[in-house]
Amino acid sequence: MLRVENVKKRFGGLAALKGVSFEVKEGEIHALIGPNGAGKTTLFNIINGFLRPTDGKVIFMDKRIDGLRPSKIAAYGIARTFQIVRTFPEMSVLENVLAGLGKEIYQSSKVFYEKVKKQGRIEKAKELLKLCGLEEYTDTHASVLPLGLQRKLEIARALATNPKLLLLDEPASGLNDNETKDLAELFRKIKDMGITILFIEHDMRFTMGIADIVTVLDYGEKIAEGVPEEITKNPKVIEAYLGTESDINA
Ligand SMILES: Nc1ncnc2c1ncn2[C@@H]1O[C@H](COP(=O)(O)OP(=O)(O)OP(=O)(O)O)[C@@H](O)[C@H]1O
Ligand SMILES: [Mg+2]
Repeated sequence: MLRVENVKKRFGGLAALKGVSFEVKEGEIHALIGPNGAGKTTLFNIINGFLRPTDGKVIFMDKRIDGLRPSKIAAYGIARTFQIVRTFPEMSVLENVLAGLGKEIYQSSKVFYEKVKKQGRIEKAKELLKLCGLEEYTDTHASVLPLGLQRKLEIARALATNPKLLLLDEPASGLNDNETKDLAELFRKIKDMGITILFIEHDMRFTMGIADIVTVLDYGEKIAEGVPEEITKNPKVIEAYLGTESDINA
């Protein structure tokens, strides 16, 4: 479904990605892990079009997408969430999801709401809120939601764009144990909907419990790839994680 081919990214003198290649297959839950600064978010920014690679290619469903505008890439079916949550704080929970459903740009919010109501999009938004366990917060301002719920709201908004591939940047970060369990449940539901997930994560217990396959980056290079059982035993991976905050065998 997604093929990253020899992707390089330089920021001035810093080589953030040094020729990374990997594939995400349709239907899988694929984790991208690695110590801080490994280049994980940079790779997401290249896949979704925020950044152009210095070299290499990104192929999504047989189309080359690197260098295309983010809106074009979203239209092809890639949605994402952010390491630092970016919900629309001045809007309600429902409005945040409606924003994901509304692909066109409207002259005023009134025009927007009249149109989305007509198109049955409010129903669709409510379905997504239910899926993500947010139905009781429909009219709550996004800004007052605790972090765990904001992360779910970002996922609901991303799902509203009807993606084939969902990119999640540290979805379990800042969540408590119960919220992390809920997130695992939500991942399974999203997978059952036929949506492929590529996620970045430092929470190893969560990652190794849910991922079908794990790709490991370190200093801009892929150092390992495999099923969770192989990755947690891989000496290169253990070494990369030694002395870092996240322990691969946590
Ligand atoms: N826009 C930028 N300009 C300059 N350097 C950048 C930029 N974005 C990222 N970097 C650098 O590139 C390297 C990779 O950063 P990136 O954010 O991709 O790491 P990461 O693997 O997501 O780390 P973390 O786990 O801490 O989120 C880091 O050294 C970072 O400081
Ligand atoms: Mg990051």
